[in-house]
Amino acid sequence: MCGIVGVTGTDNTLSILINGLKKLEYRGYDSAGVYVNDNAGHDYLVKRPGRISNLEAALTDDVHGLSGIGHTRWATHGEPNEANAHPQYSQDNRFYLVHNGVIENYAQLKKEYLSGVHFTSQTDTEVIVQLVDKFVVEDHMDTQAALLKVLRLISSNSSYAFVMIDREDPETLYVAKNKSPLLVGLGDGYNMVGSDAMSMLKETNRFMEIADHELVIVKPDHVLIKDFDGNEKHRDSFTVDIDASAADKGAYPFYMLKEIDEQPAVMRKLVQEYFGDQDDPQINPDLLRAMADADHLYIVGAGTSYHAGLVGARIFERLCGIPTSVHISSEFAYDQPLLSKKPFFIFLSQSGETADSRQVLVNVNEHKWPSLTITNVDKSTLSREATFTELLYAGPEIAVASTKAYTAQIAVEAILAKALGEYLGRDAAKQFDVKHQLGLVANGMQSITDSKKTIEEVAARYLSKPRNAFYIGRGLDWTVSLEAALKLKEISYVQAEGFASGELKHGTIALIEKGTPVLGIITQDRTAGLTRSNLDETKARGANTITIVSRHLAQEDDTIILPDVDECLTPLLSVVPAQLLAYYTSLGKGLDVDKPRNLAKSVTVQ
Ligand code: F6R
Repeated sequence: MCGIVGVTGTDNTLSILINGLKKLEYRGYDSAGVYVNDNAGHDYLVKRPGRISNLEAALTDDVHGLSGIGHTRWATHGEPNEANAHPQYSQDNRFYLVHNGVIENYAQLKKEYLSGVHFTSQTDTEVIVQLVDKFVVEDHMDTQAALLKVLRLISSNSSYAFVMIDREDPETLYVAKNKSPLLVGLGDGYNMVGSDAMSMLKETNRFMEIADHELVIVKPDHVLIKDFDGNEKHRDSFTVDIDASAADKGAYPFYMLKEIDEQPAVMRKLVQEYFGDQDDPQINPDLLRAMADADHLYIVGAGTSYHAGLVGARIFERLCGIPTSVHISSEFAYDQPLLSKKPFFIFLSQSGETADSRQVLVNVNEHKWPSLTITNVDKSTLSREATFTELLYAGPEIAVASTKAYTAQIAVEAILAKALGEYLGRDAAKQFDVKHQLGLVANGMQSITDSKKTIEEVAARYLSKPRNAFYIGRGLDWTVSLEAALKLKEISYVQAEGFASGELKHGTIALIEKGTPVLGIITQDRTAGLTRSNLDETKARGANTITIVSRHLAQEDDTIILPDVDECLTPLLSVVPAQLLAYYTSLGKGLDVDKPRNLAKSVTVQ
């Protein structure tokens, strides 16, 4: 993870760096640091553990520069203290480097090349900057050649995005990446580098991609790209059309609440983007052909995206009649099951950068299997590297806990399943009016977010004290219970489990005691009665039971009632109270809802 930025050619360098880091804080917030150089013999290195606000508070008025680099860290090697914060530097204070990723063979490089060198941190990053210095000082290589040599020494399964400054030529940024995201931003008379476009959007909407295994030299007035053999490459720039204000919190206390509230608008936006004024979804015919040709769909994702895949698989099977399985990307990458003869892969990723999912895509591309990435970030790594891309149109998701991306992913899966099912001539797809249903979903979401008071009271009454809780359900309701439990765990630190309700009695019911909250999700006609019985079994053992129920299945004493929509889209509604319950539980405990401990938004390490 980690967020990195670099700037060269403007006396606004420091404020661009800090502003960029704030936009990247979602990538990690264990420590932060900047190095700036005024190109007139003065330079400054400031690093602090904790949030960017700590770093900002430590910046005195004299800190200024014409070029610089900055970093916000999610710790992998070494605890999150000042020494391990980036920028890391060489022992003679000549080279400064910020890094996002993991250098797999750092210990071996250290042993082989750097035995006499004094290290000040426990990071893998320091090895890189010390190595560059060694090759320059001892072997008399120029900086570019030294960095190229280091890049060749780093093992290919390492992930990195680097920006380095040589104090003897401070207006040059040395930039490289492998597997980790990094973009060049083109300013007016100055240039920048950042982990994503949002970090530079205040300054520019013109960007240049960086591919893996390139060395990019960024100067104030030009950008030079080379391969590892030193050959120059040409690259066109592109413009990105994102509204920077969409990433502001506005009047909301936390991004998460804003993003929960945006869900009805996201559903309407998806209808607009995928249908326009047509009744049927407008999907790339090449994509439909490739999917129709497959004998099995493999959905791959991590965390919340994996949970959205669990819902999508059931919709694809129902509407398209193609067997569909769902896989956790970090498992699938290294423990691949026996595949069908004609597989088609669907990657679900809000960020489009998750390293675990990307590793699967690398394997898929080696076999030349067709793939689709469904993502919120156009031109992200997974979007660039898959055969096809479909977008979530959810707008920037800043809170670490994913909400609107989950519901957008399910909606896009449903739209795609409808289009594919129709293409295959399936009656189930013809009868499924997804456009109309998503309209109902949008209205339904609105009515749930309008009844926040009730949900806040439920959170305060049942979830504020206990250390553990259960969400239970069957079928689609079970898949939502996994996502509901994840939300509660990650932001309110309640040990929550999502459970197939029928499975409880096979062991886990032993954990139920007086006051344990058990939340039943009940939206499916066929299993409603069974889930209610399972809830009663926990109540008989002292649990506090709470129900989230579709209106047509509701009984007098149910807790939260959901508007009715098509059965296969109920997860789009049942998850919303669960998101709000997690939000209010976290808020009630005085926690930082948007930035829970130990986490980062975009997980670019395996
Ligand atoms: C949880 C959450 C994570 C992400 C996961 C995958 O709220 O946000 O579980 O879903 O890290 O991220 P993406 O979707 O960006 O691949």
